[in-house]
Amino acid sequence: MEPFRFHLFVRTQQKPEGVPSCPASGSFAVLGALDREIQARGLNSPGPNNRGLNNDVQLTTCGCMGLCDEGPVMVVYPAGVWYRRVQSSDVSEIVDAHLRDGKPVDRLIWNDAAAMKAMAVEHGEKFREAMAAREKAGVLPDRLDQMIRGYMPSRCLLTALELDIFTAVGDGANAEQIGEKIHANARAAGMLLNALVALGLLSKSGDDYKNTPESARFFVQGSKDNHRNGLLHTANIWHRWSTLTDAVRSGTRVPASRDDNPEWTHNFISGMQRHAKDRAPLVVKALGAAPATANSNSNIRRILDLGGGSGAYSIAFAKASPDAQCEILDLPEVVPLTAEYVRQAGVSAQVTLRAGDMLQDDFGSGYDLIMLNAICHMFSEEQNREIFHRAHQALAPNGRLVVQDFILNPEKTGPQHAALFSLNMLVSTEAGASYSEPEYTHWMKAAGFTEVCRINLPGPSSLIVGLS
Ligand SMILES: C[S@@+](CC[C@H](N)C(=O)[O-])C[C@H]1O[C@@H](n2cnc3c(N)ncnc32)[C@H](O)[C@@H]1O
Ligand code: FES
Repeated sequence: MEPFRFHLFVRTQQKPEGVPSCPASGSFAVLGALDREIQARGLNSPGPNNRGLNNDVQLTTCGCMGLCDEGPVMVVYPAGVWYRRVQSSDVSEIVDAHLRDGKPVDRLIWNDAAAMKAMAVEHGEKFREAMAAREKAGVLPDRLDQMIRGYMPSRCLLTALELDIFTAVGDGANAEQIGEKIHANARAAGMLLNALVALGLLSKSGDDYKNTPESARFFVQGSKDNHRNGLLHTANIWHRWSTLTDAVRSGTRVPASRDDNPEWTHNFISGMQRHAKDRAPLVVKALGAAPATANSNSNIRRILDLGGGSGAYSIAFAKASPDAQCEILDLPEVVPLTAEYVRQAGVSAQVTLRAGDMLQDDFGSGYDLIMLNAICHMFSEEQNREIFHRAHQALAPNGRLVVQDFILNPEKTGPQHAALFSLNMLVSTEAGASYSEPEYTHWMKAAGFTEVCRINLPGPSSLIVGLS
């Protein structure tokens, strides 16, 4: 059976540096080009093309076939056409000739089955021998080695963002010019620039460096999709993570360098906005908010958004329903930033702001919905129980309390993101942590909520919803 007109397999198994492999010969560039060209020609959509043929082309990545010396290797089924040494410059020809017109590209075909089999067998033997030798010699497994050094690429990119290197690179410049712009030593700037090239974040021609299309899009000031401000929050948090050993010893956050960064709050709220603006419509949909009409009667009118940050969730509710009135309670230093996001969204008439402390201040009463988006992980169990208790009292009958967070499994060992995020809170708060679904359920029931359910959203965070 072959459910697709063409099914392409491209090898993307990473190998240690210096070992022949399809990725080392450029298979990721081939994969990206295939994806773009297939989409550009509409060959990935089911349904007939203008010749009455079924259009659908499926692209799949796969592991090593032992033919690494001839990589990048690619196979096209159902006919089983093998291509070798494919480069991204070959892709438009393959897509046009083979995938669109059904005529394989002869010059790239590899059809010496005996040679291929012999190479795969020899590769398998060599691989097993090498693994046995490493095992005997007690070599640290690659997976552990990579985990240990995992901070290096991350640190390079964070430093590049801190120094705003991608903006300084602009349309192209040499290390001296870039060093001058970012007020850095030219020799050291050159070393960092070269590492960024090695990481695929810049390109280099002669002495000049250029941004890749991705870096130009996401890291350069003035680009519509520039994420730098929000990503600088991660750069700030990196300094806190460097205190992890001491935080584990002491049981709570300890001072770190750069704690006095005046940009901290601005970067933090930008970082929150980066995630929240994409997740907010999912939350609105999951909670069924809609304008009240003759046929549908939304029961979400009054909303309290505790620690609303950039206001993304209140803004999404206000936009989804003209009936919704939202109140955001956040810290005094954050509220002016929230006000600007609300003003830009054009929903100031529906979203009001209150500067205060959710651990101390009265919540008010009669809300249909109280939201705790990315809040509970900042606080201890006792603080969360107290917030849940006060939220229950502030809700109207049949009102809902919604927690959005990275929810741990009952053993607290996963998902991995939630378990790692718990440490993020250890290094950056007095008593915060990630919590499990049984914990949230227990605390909500103890606060008086009659029904508690979980709603999974796409992505790493989920909702726990309590009905008052
Ligand atoms: C992790 S952010 C989440 C922001 C927003 N809910 C979101 O999901 O994008 C936590 C927010 O809670 C606010 N916050 C922290 N402690 C607070 C407190 N004691 N009272 C009110 N707001 C607080 C922070 O200023 C920040 O805006
Ligand atoms: S990595 Fe391409 S065949 Fe081995």
